Amino acid sequence: MFSSDDLSSLRWDAVSGAVEIIDQTLLPHTLHWVHLDSLEAYCHAISVMQVRGAPLIGITAAFGLAHAVAENPSDTNLVAASASLMATRPTAVNLRWALETMERHLCSLVEGDRAVAARQQAIAMRQADIDNCALIGENGLGLLRDIPHGETLNIMTHCNAGWLATIQWGTALAPIYKAQAAGLPVHVWVSETRPRNQGMNLTAWELQRAGVPCTVVADNSCGQLMREGKVDCVIVGSDRTAANGDVCNKVGTYLKALAAQDNDIPFYVALPESTIDWRCDTGQEIPIEERDSLEVLTIAGVDYAGQGLEVNLAAADTQAANPAFDVTPARLVRGLVTEHGVFEASGAGLTELQGRL
Ligand code: MRU
Repeated sequence: MFSSDDLSSLRWDAVSGAVEIIDQTLLPHTLHWVHLDSLEAYCHAISVMQVRGAPLIGITAAFGLAHAVAENPSDTNLVAASASLMATRPTAVNLRWALETMERHLCSLVEGDRAVAARQQAIAMRQADIDNCALIGENGLGLLRDIPHGETLNIMTHCNAGWLATIQWGTALAPIYKAQAAGLPVHVWVSETRPRNQGMNLTAWELQRAGVPCTVVADNSCGQLMREGKVDCVIVGSDRTAANGDVCNKVGTYLKALAAQDNDIPFYVALPESTIDWRCDTGQEIPIEERDSLEVLTIAGVDYAGQGLEVNLAAADTQAANPAFDVTPARLVRGLVTEHGVFEASGAGLTELQGRL
């Protein structure tokens, strides 16, 4: 029996030690838990995006390293397993943060103590992620309450920065869940997020399960919705935020930020401290993942009988490029919503945050 909450993206069993994740490539059509029982299974889960979203990638990697250390606690294996996990995806800095945190904790211990300590550390990081996201939700709710709106507060989001991208709550969706719980009437514009459709497949699924009113829109319609006055604010997550406040997030985020600026709509980014890369001075230095062009040229779903189906969209031999992330300059970001409070997206803002740590 799993001791941790069912409604979380990664659960663990205190007795057997088993770890399970939701296979997010099958959502929204199938909710299927996958048992991770080898280092290879952890690496595969991250690289094929059975798990995705910066914080969840980090926590999954922490459990993956704990698994590897339980099998072989030597220094050589610790370093090799960490390198394998690190190679799974390049952009979300939470992966590096989680692995470095684990390694720092473990390398000072004798080998015999490492397995238990690694497991405890991964469990503590999972719990800290839940607590931090709940705080992000509270801090974001404070902002949402002050945004002028009609009967309903219309919030736009991109990609999935909900509990599927973290452990529980999410980052960008946490303030929305808190708003709903506080009785603030909200409606969410969910941009589909081509090519992998995390908005349509994951965010809309999450919000619908939680009873939050939402509408999926094509990515390209977002500027027009803003021009028509149908958006009161935009809130997104981040995969890596540079020390000057530049924000890297799912490709398409930058265009939304530009449109929001042009329409004087506040554009907020919600992120835990673990998403800040203090070693990146600006967004220019952030590695942008280039994914398989087939993600652009094909689309997956289910047919009318509910059978899984992938179809080709393009003419034969069509070339496609697939940068998975983009960088939004700090000047377009109204504020960074973190577990420590809301900060200006600037070097000064992040220095202020650093002072609170
Ligand atoms: O490629 P993905 O699905 O891992 O990208 C996820 C995002 O871009 C999210 O917006 C980001 O990780 C923030 S998650 C709280």
